[in-house]
Amino acid sequence: MAFADVLVPLMLLSLVSPSCSCTEQEEGSLLQFLAGLSRDNGLTALWHNDTDCCEWEGITCSSDGAIIEVSLASRGLEGHVSPSLGGLSNLQSLNLSCNSFSGDLPSELLASRSIIVVDVSFNRLSQVLQPQDCNSSVSDYRPLQVLNISSNLFTGEFPSVAWEKMSNLVVLNASNNNFQGLMPSSFCISSSLLAVLDLTYNQFSGNMPGSLGKCSALRVLKAGHNNLTGQLPDELFNASSLEYLSFPNNGLDGVLDDARITNLRNLSKLHLGGNMLIGKLPDTIGQLTRLEELLMSDNNMSGELPSALSNCTNLVTIDLKGNRFTGELTKVNFSNLINLRTLDVLYNKFTGTIPESIYSCSNLNALRLSGNSLHGQLSPRIVDLKSLSFLSISSNKFTNITNMLRILQNSSSITTLLIGGHNFNGEAMPGDDIIAGFQNLQVLSISGCSLSGKIPFWLSKLKSLKMLFLQKNQLSGPIPAWIKNLELLFYLDISNNRLTGEVPLALMEMPMLKSEKATTDVDPSAFERTVYIARGLQYRKLNAVPKLLNLGNNKLTSVIPKEIGQLKSLNVLNFSMNSLSGEMPLQLCSLTNLQVLDLSSNHLTGEIPLELNKLNFLAEFNVSNNDLKGPIPTGGQFDTFPDSSYERNPKLCRVTVDQLCGSAEPSAVSVLSTEQIDRRVAFWIGFGAFFGVGILHDQLVLSKFRGIMDTMGFNIVL
Ligand SMILES: *[C@@H]1O[C@H](CO)[C@@H](O)[C@H](O)[C@H]1NC(C)=O
Ligand SMILES: *[C@@H]1O[C@H](CO)[C@@H](O)[C@H](O)[C@H]1NC(C)=O
Ligand SMILES: *[C@@H]1O[C@H](CO)[C@@H](O)[C@H](O)[C@H]1NC(C)=O
Ligand SMILES: *[C@@H]1O[C@H](CO)[C@@H](O)[C@H](O)[C@H]1NC(C)=O
Ligand SMILES: *[C@@H]1O[C@H](CO)[C@@H](O)[C@H](O)[C@H]1NC(C)=O
Ligand SMILES: *[C@@H]1O[C@H](CO)[C@@H](O)[C@H](O)[C@H]1NC(C)=O
Ligand SMILES: *[C@@H]1O[C@H](CO)[C@@H](O)[C@H](O)[C@H]1NC(C)=O
Ligand SMILES: *[C@@H]1O[C@H](CO)[C@@H](O)[C@H](O)[C@H]1NC(C)=O
Ligand SMILES: *[C@@H]1O[C@H](CO)[C@@H](O)[C@H](O)[C@H]1NC(C)=O
Repeated sequence: MAFADVLVPLMLLSLVSPSCSCTEQEEGSLLQFLAGLSRDNGLTALWHNDTDCCEWEGITCSSDGAIIEVSLASRGLEGHVSPSLGGLSNLQSLNLSCNSFSGDLPSELLASRSIIVVDVSFNRLSQVLQPQDCNSSVSDYRPLQVLNISSNLFTGEFPSVAWEKMSNLVVLNASNNNFQGLMPSSFCISSSLLAVLDLTYNQFSGNMPGSLGKCSALRVLKAGHNNLTGQLPDELFNASSLEYLSFPNNGLDGVLDDARITNLRNLSKLHLGGNMLIGKLPDTIGQLTRLEELLMSDNNMSGELPSALSNCTNLVTIDLKGNRFTGELTKVNFSNLINLRTLDVLYNKFTGTIPESIYSCSNLNALRLSGNSLHGQLSPRIVDLKSLSFLSISSNKFTNITNMLRILQNSSSITTLLIGGHNFNGEAMPGDDIIAGFQNLQVLSISGCSLSGKIPFWLSKLKSLKMLFLQKNQLSGPIPAWIKNLELLFYLDISNNRLTGEVPLALMEMPMLKSEKATTDVDPSAFERTVYIARGLQYRKLNAVPKLLNLGNNKLTSVIPKEIGQLKSLNVLNFSMNSLSGEMPLQLCSLTNLQVLDLSSNHLTGEIPLELNKLNFLAEFNVSNNDLKGPIPTGGQFDTFPDSSYERNPKLCRVTVDQLCGSAEPSAVSVLSTEQIDRRVAFWIGFGAFFGVGILHDQLVLSKFRGIMDTMGFNIVL
């Protein structure tokens, strides 16, 4: 609202066509600004000194020829922001966002007595912000209302005191910088106009200042992804205009105060996930009737859900995953929550059954109840949820999978169905007499259920299937040849079963694994919620999921078909712990996208193809416990694999400079003492190229990806 007040006069002014030309002094200021650019991207050519500078690209003048707006966003400019712009004494709006300006933001601009809006977001400005003009002898009046310095490289402490003079500030967005020290607190001491304060993604630490409670006009307060600690200060709840309160991923502790939270009647978004909050969700939350998003995941909250939650009829998203909530979900009457789209209670301690009232939530799009202790059989009413596309009920105590699948196959909306991690009392995999096939499934997990029987034929009718998790069951019989008819399938984990027979040639025909062009995207709406592989590990974007074929730990007895070379886009191949015999086919060297190759614990003979060292992205390699002979490949990624990759192959040997393989008695694999290459770097290279990003990729992402690789096939998808 307040921001609109700022814009309207500006827009009116900019409609007035200039009748007077700009002064020489103003032109000089602009040319000085131009001189500060190291890359002008053609601007100099457009700013002729023989034309009126009011006509210049990006410049707007008032009717009397004074420059009131400089608007040069997304112009590809590089260099410094010249303090000369501060000399434009009528300038009201400066927009330099989305360029590559570096250096500091001149204090002249912040201390200007005319500028109302400064937007320098998305640049590379750094250094400490100095809003105070020390030389200013004139009045301290600062009309600045909107300051957007987000997504820059500003560091240092946020100079709190200096901001006291900014008595007209309405919007401050300083998110996505490197500010440190205490969160600034003095904003509303001299003024109470501040409506939007965004400090997300910085390194602010210490307690949250209570004085923000004085900001009576504050609607949006965001400070997530910092290092804030302590409790939410009581005074904060005096900021009763707050609509959006967001502090996720900090170190906040304490309880949500049941009395004070009711002051925030206007609250529509409450984001406190990823902190260390304890205690209950207060009953009084029912008084926040405007609440739309309640995000409290990954805290240490406990107790039962308050039944008053059903009074929050505007709720769209409830995310309580990763807490210690107990009791029955039936305490909440979900029929009232007609706007609910996402309910996520993954990893809590809820008991009882799925509340019947939830089947009235006709807008429900994602329901994740996995990792609790819910029991009972699935209600046929679940197909009433016509908008439901993501359903995860894994790792609970539900019974009767036959009933479950028979019901769910009638849903045409579900694209992701995760029901693994159950002990269905020794039931067999429901067969084709019961299940006809699902309509739109893209992701199906029935892993970890100890199901016996065969891989059922009804799966062959799931034409949209992209990922299939059937690992950790007791499935027997051969791998069916129809698997190649699933044209979109790129992730198949049938490891840890009792499958027999050969590695079928049909597997070598899987279209998604043959085509290097085909990408591994899955219906994004289904995966906005992310798939949990194991606690703490999650896929953020599904296109980060590798193409995988995991047949490990079965009873397969053939050779590895030469046709394996066709699976050009495969990233992970795991045939370990079977009874495969014969040689490692040379064609493995064609799998140029491989990152993981595990053929360990089989009966493979012959030599390791030396050309495997051309697989530049290979990060894990294991042929241990076979009967291989001859030299171990060297060069490329092979200089990085540990000895354990080869152990228990008595006839394998390592070629070194002074020892030819086979010349002496083949020594058991010796220690790679001279190994110089940092394995991590080698992995980075593979990883970076695979995802089309630079080599120096964020290590966090790297370790997550590694973690996923390590746990792949073991954990139940939740
Ligand atoms: C315009 O710029 C050119 C070259 O930069 C300079 O030679 C000329 O004197 C300038 N003219 C005026 C009127 O400032
Ligand atoms: C600055 O320009 C960018 C790009 O046109 C625009 O998205 C942004 O809203 C502008 N900033 C302000 C404060 O109007
Ligand atoms: C910077 O913030 C202002 C105020 O919130 C906003 O109007 C503007 O669009 C933002 N700039 C960009 C590039 O998003
Ligand atoms: C602040 O700027 C960031 C971009 O840097 C934007 O994503 C965010 O939405 C802005 N915050 C507010 C409250 O507008
Ligand atoms: C918060 O508001 C209450 C009244 O609602 C008042 O008694 C109290 O002094 C205020 N606290 C602060 C720190 O402003
Ligand atoms: C969660 O709270 C309980 C006490 O309520 C405590 O024993 C436990 O250590 C806490 N867990 C974490 C991770 O802080
Ligand atoms: C739940 O709410 C609905 C709609 O408001 C109502 O009809 C129903 O009786 C309530 N159920 C319970 C158990 O209170
Ligand atoms: C499982 O559900 C089916 C209906 O789909 C039913 O016929 C069968 O009796 C149920 N089994 C048990 C053990 O409840
Ligand atoms: C391959 O699968 C087997 C059996 O599930 C497992 O033990 C092994 O760790 C997997 N290999 C890799 C590299 O993940």
